[in-house]
Amino acid sequence: MARGGNGNVKKSEIYAGIMSGTSLDGIDAVLVDLGQPQPRLLAQHYLPFDDSLKAAVLALHLPAHNELHHAQIIGNRLAQLYAQSIAPLLSATGIAAAQVKAIGCHGQTIRHCPEHGYTLQIGNAALLAELTGISVVNDFRSRDIAAGGQGAPLVPAFHDMTLRHPDIHRVIVNIGGISNLTNLPPHVGTAGFDCGPGNMLMDAWIAQHRGEAYDKNGAWASGGKVISALLQTMLAEPFFAAAPPKSCGRDLFNTGWMKQHLRGNEAPADVQATLLALTCHSIANAVQHYCRGAGEIYLCGGGAHNGALLEMLRHLLPDCRIQPTDALGIGADWIEAIAFAWLAQQTLHGQPANLPAVTGARHPCVLGAIYPA
Ligand SMILES: Nc1ncnc2c1ncn2[C@@H]1O[C@H](COP(=O)(O)OP(=O)(O)OP(=O)(O)O)[C@@H](O)[C@H]1O
Ligand SMILES: [Mg+2]
Repeated sequence: MARGGNGNVKKSEIYAGIMSGTSLDGIDAVLVDLGQPQPRLLAQHYLPFDDSLKAAVLALHLPAHNELHHAQIIGNRLAQLYAQSIAPLLSATGIAAAQVKAIGCHGQTIRHCPEHGYTLQIGNAALLAELTGISVVNDFRSRDIAAGGQGAPLVPAFHDMTLRHPDIHRVIVNIGGISNLTNLPPHVGTAGFDCGPGNMLMDAWIAQHRGEAYDKNGAWASGGKVISALLQTMLAEPFFAAAPPKSCGRDLFNTGWMKQHLRGNEAPADVQATLLALTCHSIANAVQHYCRGAGEIYLCGGGAHNGALLEMLRHLLPDCRIQPTDALGIGADWIEAIAFAWLAQQTLHGQPANLPAVTGARHPCVLGAIYPA
């Protein structure tokens, strides 16, 4: 408990959130106070993955010899890194592990197959609880899938609570490995869905051709020319035209998918420009189709740092004011991790956190599995 300026006792509820997403860039970890309706970010830490871990996780997306064993071993390695990402949060704030109610840990997705009734995020939660002495909530997506939903996206409920405006039609677009949007029309229910690949294909292409993890500020893409025939064939992928609820992952959008569309004689920089355009067009089409009348778009995730992407989105959606979520007081790099801290709080409070209108689940569910400290 802390005393506010007006003498009122302010309730404090400390949670940690850990997000490691489809980009496989690394771990975003936050410590937040969720005692008030608006979350208060206390500390944040980013822990990048090394190339060998990234390659090992990537390999688990495909069938391979003894994959169950490898998934568990890599899950243990991830739990150790998750624990390492929590330590600096505690030392920076002087908050003891015992004061943290729980860690909401997304885990690392290696398969996302709602059409087969499952999704799989690894990262040994029991080990994370053991190493940190803090309760862990993980596996947030499975219950929604069990109730007939996509299990994704889950962040729209958090956006609804923190970023909605009573009169302005806002859309939140998260551009991580995959891009997903949350539609927040005033006086109407919140909607949301995955739009398609965010940074994932661009990352894979620049890694293959230039050995770089990502195209900083979209500089390489900006030096290339969009190949419009290639863009059109990629946009013809049925996922883009499918009506929500819908979600996707590396199971669909991967290097194999990209190569199916290539003739092999394209200039690499032109392909990068086309992949950037694919991300932008799929988002813009989704906004035009499902978020008619939106006035403000707020970007989050690593893609919010890509100036070329921002410029193209502004060109495609001239009627919308487009800026990072930082403009609303929540940093674009941390919002997903904060959302998973909030999801853990919902679990411990026994509150449903999926939005059936978003995921397609038959009913609201309390999400997650709890590993007590
Ligand atoms: N300065 C930058 N310029 C261009 N791209 C950037 C920049 N910074 C980050 N990125 C992109 O953002 C990616 C990481 O984004 P983020 O961490 O939001 O994704 P994620 O971990 O996959 O999360 P999600 O679960 O939302 O998919 C990087 O792989 C890179 O492609
Ligand atoms: Mg990331």
